[in-house]
Amino acid sequence: AASDPDLVARAIAAKEALGERVFVLGHHYQRDEVIQFADVTGDSFKLARDAAARPAAEFIVFCGVHFMAESADILTSDDQAVILPDLSAGCSMADMARLSQVEDAWDAMAAAGLQDNIVPVTYMNSSADIKAFCGRNGGVVCTSSNADVALEWAFDQKADVEGGGKVLFFPDQHLGRNTAVLKMGMTLDDCVVWNPLLPGGGLSVEQLQGAKMILWKGHCSVHGRFTTDVIDELRAKHEGIHILVHPECTHEVVLKADLVGSTEFIIKTIEAAEPGSTWAIGTELNLVQRLADAHPDKNIVFLDRNVCYCSTMNRIDLPHFVWAMESLVRGEVVNQIDVDDETEAHALVALQRMLDLPG
Ligand code: 13P
Ligand code: SF4
Repeated sequence: AASDPDLVARAIAAKEALGERVFVLGHHYQRDEVIQFADVTGDSFKLARDAAARPAAEFIVFCGVHFMAESADILTSDDQAVILPDLSAGCSMADMARLSQVEDAWDAMAAAGLQDNIVPVTYMNSSADIKAFCGRNGGVVCTSSNADVALEWAFDQKADVEGGGKVLFFPDQHLGRNTAVLKMGMTLDDCVVWNPLLPGGGLSVEQLQGAKMILWKGHCSVHGRFTTDVIDELRAKHEGIHILVHPECTHEVVLKADLVGSTEFIIKTIEAAEPGSTWAIGTELNLVQRLADAHPDKNIVFLDRNVCYCSTMNRIDLPHFVWAMESLVRGEVVNQIDVDDETEAHALVALQRMLDLPG
């Protein structure tokens, strides 16, 4: 739908009035009406790297979800304020791992005698206190762009320990499983699933001891919707179609796809695709529609029969963006995301380990 011209004019005016004082970051899943005002767009990894790219900006307006704004606050200087235009823009996957639950799982690993073997690896899609837990306990953050390198790093840390390394991976079981099995040469039998809602994660001590990857039972409600049935249907309908999906999709879907990668990878793949080629993309719909609009010479379809936006990403709409920007123009800092100093210091350790990974 076309953006309200009055709001567009107000957003332009506010951005002009703030000039270099504001730096606007936009995740690829944001609405068109918002992403048009981003100084930088990217996937979770690129935005984490770029957050600190404008040290002179007083305000970082983060058009994305809560955990991303927290990471931006951790990675930028204390005198820069990070603003999330709608505080209810959370992430249902990040909410599936709470600190107390992760601590319970950690204690269970120790009780199983694994305290010297285990490394915690958290997906970027997690709260700052979970990242801080990883920082305090020899772990690392990863994104969908670098999960394989982060896992390699984690196993390397324990290469000399008797019994070898094990990874507790949270909150997305699918990214963990897809990376372990498809990129690291592990088997499905090397992975077990820790269910935080069951006592002992629903696992026996023997299961914990026998596994290399202990995967948290979390998932993305958007990417979890794609099915192999639709892949079969599309392959039957369009000869030569390429299936391109995000690694948050289920293992079955990823196995049936031709290519898998982060949102940044998906964009680059479509940019490099042959004119006339046909693609079905399994990721959030704002991005798929934008790719289809930007590449009219390629046939791009969505890998779902229904619409499937990330409802929390979509909470950042033009009215909220304009409200946040106009408040800043008036000197009022609204919706600031400010991680406390102690959490920030430990979370930074885990984030910095990620940023220092090779590649
Ligand atoms: P990336 O930005 O790493 O591709 O992750 C997608 C996602 O679900 C962000 O919430
Ligand atoms: Fe969270 Fe999934 Fe939305 Fe990303 S797409 S913010 S993982 S719910």
